[in-house]
Amino acid sequence: MDLCIIGSGYVGLVSGACFAEVGHHVICVDNDQKKVDKLQRGEIPIYEPGLEELVHRNVAARRLRFTNSIEDGLDHSQVVFIAVPTPPQSDGSVDLTYIERVAREIAGVLKPGQYRVIVDKSTVPVKTGEKVADTIRRYNKDAEFDVVSNPEFLREGCAVPDLMNPDRIVVGSSSQRATDLMKQIYEPFRAPILVTDLNSAELIKHAANSFLSLKISYINAVAAICEASGADVEMVADGIGMDKRIGRNFLNAGLGYGGSCFPKDVKAFIAISRQLGTPFALLEEVERINATMLDRFIDKVRGALWVLKDKKIAVWGLTFKPDTDDVRNSVAIELVNKLVAEGAQVSAYDPKGAEKAVEWGLIDPTKVRLTKTPADATDGAEALLLATEWKEFANADLAEVKKRMHTPLVFDGRNHFNPETMRQLGFTYYAVGRPAAV
Ligand code: UGA
Repeated sequence: MDLCIIGSGYVGLVSGACFAEVGHHVICVDNDQKKVDKLQRGEIPIYEPGLEELVHRNVAARRLRFTNSIEDGLDHSQVVFIAVPTPPQSDGSVDLTYIERVAREIAGVLKPGQYRVIVDKSTVPVKTGEKVADTIRRYNKDAEFDVVSNPEFLREGCAVPDLMNPDRIVVGSSSQRATDLMKQIYEPFRAPILVTDLNSAELIKHAANSFLSLKISYINAVAAICEASGADVEMVADGIGMDKRIGRNFLNAGLGYGGSCFPKDVKAFIAISRQLGTPFALLEEVERINATMLDRFIDKVRGALWVLKDKKIAVWGLTFKPDTDDVRNSVAIELVNKLVAEGAQVSAYDPKGAEKAVEWGLIDPTKVRLTKTPADATDGAEALLLATEWKEFANADLAEVKKRMHTPLVFDGRNHFNPETMRQLGFTYYAVGRPAAV
């Protein structure tokens, strides 16, 4: 099928590449000419495992191309996906100006007799699809189209496998014609397709992300109880996670959730429910618990080092999770900046995120020493803090790290190391919700 995707960010670019991979012809549209130029030269603006090969292969096979022209995209595609940012506003509600602008632009180029399915893939508040349809109609009374909601559930760091093997596809549509086309697009993915009305599909996305955030805050609250009682949160998570009704996924205690989705989506769902007159206080507690995790962790470091000013501290990890270069809303970055604000001398290492952290002004390289290897960051350190659970850290030569450190103190913010191994190596090891290993 011929598809167009408006917006070449994480969701748009990975979706476009995966649709091309299963045989569709895809045009990715972006209004950022620099990004389009890069993509046309074969440069991928984000780090996502497997994406580069996928893009190169499908561009070479002429199933994937990039343009800045919405008209070009719409002229050659029957189904048009919208995958533009929906950032948060200061009150937590969602900024829909990019979506509205795209709706007007689509209205401006739709030709009479040219039926198109307009699919919203961006995460949007319930009832946005209705507004998109109204907007297109208002600016082009002859337009022939249907609006569909098709939320995306991919995770950064494993976006390609998530998209190629989804648990489910959600299609919110009230038009049989549009639904049939959507089923045809997704047929090669061999995943269950849930067809709902437009509003339910939009709600599913916010409800799913909020529920996953709730699971994380739940286990983090349990971790605090474990710390107070001497229990081990990893064992507790295994024990409750073995119940199939609960499941072990997203029960990893640590520094809390970050990134460009969960913090924003929980806030948005709180704002949406408030606007609809049905406040969702439970989610406010989810946010509150999440916000306390970093301070609890820093308190633990203070408990061992007493004063942080002038202390040499190594931080491993800057991205909001492993296998991505994304540092937006990263708890690891917040940790580094809080340590710097207290006067600590911070050395940090991240396999992929350091460059973007500096480029986006999130880390001041004059205040933080960014190193090329994890071991380099630990030279003379009085404590090592693990903030992101990159595999590389579990495989690091910890005996060498211990030699380089001034004092062998490790604070593991993601429960990534084995406490017994750390103890045997001679570290004093603190994790989250687990007894310290000394
Ligand atoms: C999340 C959802 O998992 C995707 O399904 C969704 O499509 C995406 O948001 C989105 O809305 O676009 P993502 O933000 O890429 O995906 O990353 P996750 O793997 O969900 O992790 C989010 C945060 O939760 C990370 O900071 C991670 O460290 C934290 N986390 C995750 C925990 O602290 N504990 C866990 O057990 C799991």
